[in-house]
Amino acid sequence: MTVDWIPDSPDELFRKIKEGEIVEMGQNTNRLGPPEEVREAVIRAAEEARYNVYANPKGDAELRRGVVEYFGLDGDFEALITSGAIEGIHAVIRAFACNGTVLTPDPGYKTIDGMMITEGAYVHEVDTYSEEYGYKMTADAVQDALDSDGVDPDDVDMIFVINPSNPLGSALDEGEVRALVELAQDLDAVLVHDCTYRDFADSKPVACEMDPERCVDVYSFSKTYGLAGMRVGAVVGERKLIESIAEYKVGKLGINVLAQEAALAALRCRESWIPKLRRELDRNQKIIRRECVRDGVRIPVFPSQANCLVIDFSEHEHVDSKDVVGALYERGVFVRTGYYTSPRHGRGFIRVAFSVPREDVEYFCSAFNEVMDELLGG
Ligand SMILES: Cc1ncc(COP(=O)(O)O)c(C=O)c1O
Repeated sequence: MTVDWIPDSPDELFRKIKEGEIVEMGQNTNRLGPPEEVREAVIRAAEEARYNVYANPKGDAELRRGVVEYFGLDGDFEALITSGAIEGIHAVIRAFACNGTVLTPDPGYKTIDGMMITEGAYVHEVDTYSEEYGYKMTADAVQDALDSDGVDPDDVDMIFVINPSNPLGSALDEGEVRALVELAQDLDAVLVHDCTYRDFADSKPVACEMDPERCVDVYSFSKTYGLAGMRVGAVVGERKLIESIAEYKVGKLGINVLAQEAALAALRCRESWIPKLRRELDRNQKIIRRECVRDGVRIPVFPSQANCLVIDFSEHEHVDSKDVVGALYERGVFVRTGYYTSPRHGRGFIRVAFSVPREDVEYFCSAFNEVMDELLGG
């Protein structure tokens, strides 16, 4: 079976995910969550019908303070609570890049590039899929893309970086983010630091404190806490900048009240939850490496600093990720083709999310090896 961007009709795929009929490792969500404290907070808020009233349009004040504190920010910083990171990203695009030029990573999360294009932006992808750049969107990778691809530096309005990377799990450290901030300064562009996966990383740089006038950070509660369906995230930055971004946010009546209660409870239990979660992820990705790496099959970035990783089989030129994903789907596993995050390099890799129970990881590994044996004729 060869698949397109998803291996089934959308309705059928989402039905199978909802009913638990498929081993879901394609959405980069987290089926190890939520923490018990979060579950209880949501039930309590639902029972008390706290959703009878509209929420504060900017987000609950305690949650906003909690997010600013979680980012370790001191001074005139603010958080705008959004319906998932994606709504915040949309607002930032509308505020700074409508009909403008944006640099984005390739591979990257193409849903974001699609939103940019819808807002009339010219999206210029920076190819990061190489050892030369450590599979990261470094300042050198961006500069080389500008030099070789004929983009006029004066035209650049925004650098959009995903750190840690979806799909690779590579992470930029403090110095590497600072270099991007300096490049944004040279280009007189805004830097958006999408750190949706920061909780899985060793290093947690914060861009908005490096240059508060031109940088914002975007965060999601979906990945760390198993809250993807709740839809809650935040844009963090200097107060004035956040106020101007809030003007562009589509939802004017605040964010789902239960989701905000979940986020508040999540922040409260993060110090006990995150180390425990990371230990499980560490074990899961080691299982994948041990079981799946073989001749011509490698994991370019290991350990991943996100909850997903890339398995690369590009050396086998006749193997296409659409066939790999199709054959896995027939065996009851859903992962993403490489095309989903990189039409350019997508033939030669799949993306696998491993924040799932250990038995699902083991099932995936045996199905993957069966599929590769079949496709490689081994
Ligand atoms: C890089 C990146 N940013 C944003 C999002 C969206 O996150 P949310 O669920 O908070 O909207 C995703 C989801 O996969 C992502 O990978």
